[in-house]
Amino acid sequence: MVDVAKRVEMMLRDPEESLIVLSGCGTSGRIAFLLVTSFNEMVKAPKQKQICSYIIAGGDRAMLTSQEAPEDDPALGARMLDKICAGKKHVLFVGISCGMSAPFVAGQLDFCLKHLDVFTPVLLGFNPVHMARSEPMQDCSFHFKDVAERMIAEQRHKKAFVLNPVLGAEAISGSSRMKGGSATKIILESILLAGHEAAFRGKRVTPECISAWITASEMVYETTYSHSDELAALIHQAGESLQMKAHVYYIGWQTLGIIGLTDASECVPTFGADFDDIRGFINNGFREMKNKEGDLSFLGPEFVIGHKDFVDTILPSLSQNDVMLFLFTVNDDLHEVTALADQVRRRTSNLHAIAHDLEKFTIPVIVMVSHLQRWELSTKWCLNAISTGAHVLKGKVYMNYMIDLRVTNSKLYRRAINILQRFTGCSKGECERALLRAIYSTDDLSEDMTSADVWKHTDGESTVNKFKFLVVPTALVMIQCGCTLAEARHHLDCHPVIRDAVSACFSSSKTKNFIKPLDSVEAEP
Ligand code: F6P
Repeated sequence: MVDVAKRVEMMLRDPEESLIVLSGCGTSGRIAFLLVTSFNEMVKAPKQKQICSYIIAGGDRAMLTSQEAPEDDPALGARMLDKICAGKKHVLFVGISCGMSAPFVAGQLDFCLKHLDVFTPVLLGFNPVHMARSEPMQDCSFHFKDVAERMIAEQRHKKAFVLNPVLGAEAISGSSRMKGGSATKIILESILLAGHEAAFRGKRVTPECISAWITASEMVYETTYSHSDELAALIHQAGESLQMKAHVYYIGWQTLGIIGLTDASECVPTFGADFDDIRGFINNGFREMKNKEGDLSFLGPEFVIGHKDFVDTILPSLSQNDVMLFLFTVNDDLHEVTALADQVRRRTSNLHAIAHDLEKFTIPVIVMVSHLQRWELSTKWCLNAISTGAHVLKGKVYMNYMIDLRVTNSKLYRRAINILQRFTGCSKGECERALLRAIYSTDDLSEDMTSADVWKHTDGESTVNKFKFLVVPTALVMIQCGCTLAEARHHLDCHPVIRDAVSACFSSSKTKNFIKPLDSVEAEP
């Protein structure tokens, strides 16, 4: 981290020729965007040139909706990186993949490794390199693990860097948004801020200063969870709303608005939620986001994100069952916050806030910025807990597994098979067949279907189901009860709560309800 922070310092000292790029898929790309937005805001303050940029697989629309297919495309990753870096002499590239698995990022790192005269590649993930994904990638001669090993070889000459603290299993299996996303933010923020302090405030980058940033995050953690009673109450409230088919609305200001939008949009692919179950809104909409592609509201209702939009479209029909959660800090326009809260209060008293305060108001900009980043982290932890807890209460999680995931790329396809194996104890082949039956909505798989590439199964165009959720639960019921597709669907229809449907199927099939030990199932990237 010290070496990488020194590169940041070098880049900031030579802004005309340099670029820092953070890139990732899904949550990792959203964290990249958030970090870049906050960092650019900070360098804007003393009138410095902004040299930080982000790439997210699938483009800006992926910040608000899940675009998982581009994650499988290494060539696309390399092309996007090449384009954004045109004309730059020095590029510090940080490829983020929590599971060390995203082909999109692997393609970018490979591109950097081929142009080490310009690029210094950094890989950030939370797996040891020997456990990086080694599955073949689309139209590609190498896999992720190859690239990670080449990175380690170049690290010996300080031409590339691998940052991969191993954090253990995800808290709720299958989500890189919680622990992985937070650790990504802490690590990269520490690096960027240490580099910035060295370039503009005459400090040296040392292991001590890096560890001071990390310790600061630990304090944020302690402060945040010291409010666990209030958090539990919010989880309970949000869970009740979702169970009543009502909604949770996050109304955020500035980057806390981005945190809210991100948390809300991730509920769709992670828990099979509807996009309007939990929704985020930000002051000034896309103007505040400052994303590269600008206003995307023409793309559909998922992209309607301004407070004004909330007032125009949601507020008139807001009910007492909907939870309203305001996210702001003392730096925001508190008159604006109060005015909106007054409007909301006329319709519901189910109004809550996560509000961050300072002890002293007269502080230098850099300290203010680090406060902002701590507030972001704290808000992220709160919202991750609220949305996850609410979906657990709604019955979307079975024995800590998010079983209603969308099977929209090769990693998620493997994860789905893995989950089926764990719960049924059946072979990989049997689980894959059941999954394909659910994907193609048929009991009779054709030769074309079984022999197609994984990318075909997951592209949504060639399949009948179009990933309208319940794919994995359907397959699970078919295997466990030995029934047809229609019977499995009927069973799920009779139990609107997924967890109840799966539990009922296990008890009625008289088969012992067990989970295979982790080490007897193929390791998941
Ligand atoms: O493809 C889905 C997904 O698992 C997202 O949930 C996640 O944010 C994204 O991939 C990126 O994962 P990683 O950081 O491990 O590459």
